Amino acid sequence: MSTRHAGRSYLITGATSGLGRAVAGHLSGEGARIWALGTTKAGVDAVVGAGAAIGGSACDITDNDAVQQAVDLAVDTLGKLDGGFVNAGIDGDGEPALTASSGHFLRVMDVNVRGVFISARCIAGHLLASPGTDIAGSIVINASVNGVRPEVNFASYNASKAAAISLAKTFALEWAPRIAVTAVAPGYFPTRMTEPYLGDADLADELLAHIPARRFGDPAELGALVSYLLSPEAAYLTGGCINIDGGRHV
Ligand SMILES: NC(=O)c1ccc[n+]([C@@H]2O[C@H](COP(=O)([O-])OP(=O)(O)OC[C@H]3O[C@@H](n4cnc5c(N)ncnc54)[C@H](OP(=O)(O)O)[C@@H]3O)[C@@H](O)[C@H]2O)c1
Repeated sequence: MSTRHAGRSYLITGATSGLGRAVAGHLSGEGARIWALGTTKAGVDAVVGAGAAIGGSACDITDNDAVQQAVDLAVDTLGKLDGGFVNAGIDGDGEPALTASSGHFLRVMDVNVRGVFISARCIAGHLLASPGTDIAGSIVINASVNGVRPEVNFASYNASKAAAISLAKTFALEWAPRIAVTAVAPGYFPTRMTEPYLGDADLADELLAHIPARRFGDPAELGALVSYLLSPEAAYLTGGCINIDGGRHV
């Protein structure tokens, strides 16, 4: 088993389900100490109980004070953070732009854009305060292929993920050279969020027809990518957006 992340600590938002949960397990398996964020204490307790995190905090990522408190508690408990996986997000409503609810649009932008903005800068504040001039850590932002190649009836989600990629690039500029910031743009992976599509045989076939690899992603594949991006070996990789989608973005 790899010990790539031995002695390193990371905060993961949305660690209580799906991709965030998978990445928490992957990094823990490589020796990292994880601080898990989710919306409920029961969800956080389950991740900790399964051994994928040392501890965690229940908070909404749109609440700046609550996220700051979570980062402070993570640093107090773990001694430091070496970065984070800014992953929590919600789906669009699958409605045509003409009739979609503007209230839902606002909520998607709030969680997927403002939540990313808040989470990343709370983690960055800690990293930038550490002494020295060398790289202090890395942040990976989970965007989506939809931020690169929009999908019909998902205006809010597409726009929010394009904004998440833009935030990653802005942060990479503002926090250089102390923090490497990268976006990842996954295609379709089986999680609670994608269950309504991937769990429907006809819909799943339709989606597969547009994926050159002709399969959905395995969350373990994202775990391996995020593990590399957070590692010191990837320190020169910043400001980019890495597609991990079986070719769906082409
Ligand atoms: N699955 C895919 O195919 C796919 C593809 C591209 C991008 N993504 C992105 O990957 C990320 C994770 O998605 P997923 O598929 O793993 O979905 P998921 O299984 O539904 O997990 C979503 C996670 O985000 C958390 N979360 C949602 N809203 C939150 C809020 N306001 N404050 C704090 N935490 C919040 C959830 O916490 P609770 O458990 O407490 O609800 C959960 O841990 C999202 O940003 C999504 O857009 C997913």
